Amino acid sequence: MTDHKERLVYLSGDFVPESQAKISIFDAAVNLGHCVTDSSRTFHHEAFKLKAHIARLYQSLKVARIDPGIDADEMYRITMDLLERNLQLYATTDDCWIVHNVSAGMSPLGPNPKQSSAATIMISNQPLNLTGWQKYYHVGCHAVTPFSRQIPSQSLDARIKNRSRMFYTLAEQEVKLVDPDAQSVILDTDGFVAENKGGNVFIAKDGVVKTPTSINGLAGITRQTTLEICRAQGIPFIETRLLPYDLYTADEVFFTSTPYCLMPATKFNGLSVGSGMVGPIAKKILLGWQELTGVNVVEQADSQTQMSS
Ligand SMILES: Cc1ncc(COP(=O)(O)O)c(C=O)c1O
Repeated sequence: MTDHKERLVYLSGDFVPESQAKISIFDAAVNLGHCVTDSSRTFHHEAFKLKAHIARLYQSLKVARIDPGIDADEMYRITMDLLERNLQLYATTDDCWIVHNVSAGMSPLGPNPKQSSAATIMISNQPLNLTGWQKYYHVGCHAVTPFSRQIPSQSLDARIKNRSRMFYTLAEQEVKLVDPDAQSVILDTDGFVAENKGGNVFIAKDGVVKTPTSINGLAGITRQTTLEICRAQGIPFIETRLLPYDLYTADEVFFTSTPYCLMPATKFNGLSVGSGMVGPIAKKILLGWQELTGVNVVEQADSQTQMSS
């Protein structure tokens, strides 16, 4: 392992210090937003479900017609190599993101947006800072529906995890205008719950966990793991369409996503959800995460918050 003080990133064949990693302003990621992505994380410095994340990345690449020029095994090997080089810079109590961005490469102006150069492959690690979510583990966030609607899958299938994040960013800004503690519950154009700008949506009602299918939202790997935890814990679950009514009348609402695993919501569009407190099913699933990974994410968020205050 090399000794270095700055994190490295992998950029199209080379390991380079983060501050020196540059891409062209003519890259398809910049000019067209023609770039797919995936984000995973470590628990106790161990990559979690990295092969599943890379498999999803390759599905996104295929549908986005981007040829990365290397296969999934090679992508995995490089990702692990980078992680090993960078982990020496992390405190043992901290974890990191693992982020892949792969664009279609240089994008010359002209009539044909077909991939015309080697892909630009960018892999990075960033400290996983949970302080922004910390209080929601304890008191819940406010789930709010933005007025922007999910881009229909007929235009851009939400299962392609991509870097064209303008729509998600605007939707999240809209809900933050309502409440700084808001998290978006984005509806599709038929009014059904789709997803959050960076997570999937769940409810619990009469002991049953419910979440939308992946027909109008990303097939989240945390969503999948949450269902696996439900199965292991004997919590019944169904994948089904949900309307805002179902969230108003749920006992519990929560989000799932790679960095925070599970984030409870105790209000929906201004009304209390259930008791108005973080519910028992959310707590049980968070415990399941701890059993699975050996990391208590709530404690990890609490200690990061204490250290930063
Ligand atoms: C739009 C969107 N939905 C859902 C998710 C959750 O996916 P995962 O659980 O794989 O992190 C993400 C993750 O970034 C996302 O960007």
